[in-house]
Amino acid sequence: MYDFAADADLPKTELYRTLADAAAALVAGEPDPVANMANLAAVIWQFVPDLNWAGFYRMVEGELVLGPFVGKPACIRIPLGVGVCGTAAATAETQVVPDVHAFPGHIACDAASRSEIVVPVLRNGKVIAVIDLDSPTPGRFDAEDAAGMELVGKVAAGAI
Ligand code: SME
Repeated sequence: MYDFAADADLPKTELYRTLADAAAALVAGEPDPVANMANLAAVIWQFVPDLNWAGFYRMVEGELVLGPFVGKPACIRIPLGVGVCGTAAATAETQVVPDVHAFPGHIACDAASRSEIVVPVLRNGKVIAVIDLDSPTPGRFDAEDAAGMELVGKVAAGAI
């Protein structure tokens, strides 16, 4: 059992640094990508407050395919360029969406989702997956969440 102490009162920069350290410790020495994605989704869920979905989509033969996650069942395949995840994968840039209803092509997996952040996971300059976080709170994610989740994305890049 891993019992990481997640303190939601920490300033965001510190929270994400602690999360990235916990994430690195969880995947250290483990080569199995599914196990690592499962544990990374779980530790993100444990550390980051106010989420209703946290998990991975993997790049498989030119489209995104659902990976390990915490939350309600989600759509399985997302074409590149479609929705928030497909945009992050196509542009290789983090997407911070304060109001999912205002994002053209947003794919609603859980009606509770109001805001979203998607971070690409890059290896050798190529998108190999994205990490998607949804929140029921509008405007939940900002630039600090983006920088913090990009640290977690770097950990994922070496582990999945
Ligand atoms: N909302 C995402 C789809 C994935 S779910 O949120 C889990 C999108 O528009 O890409």
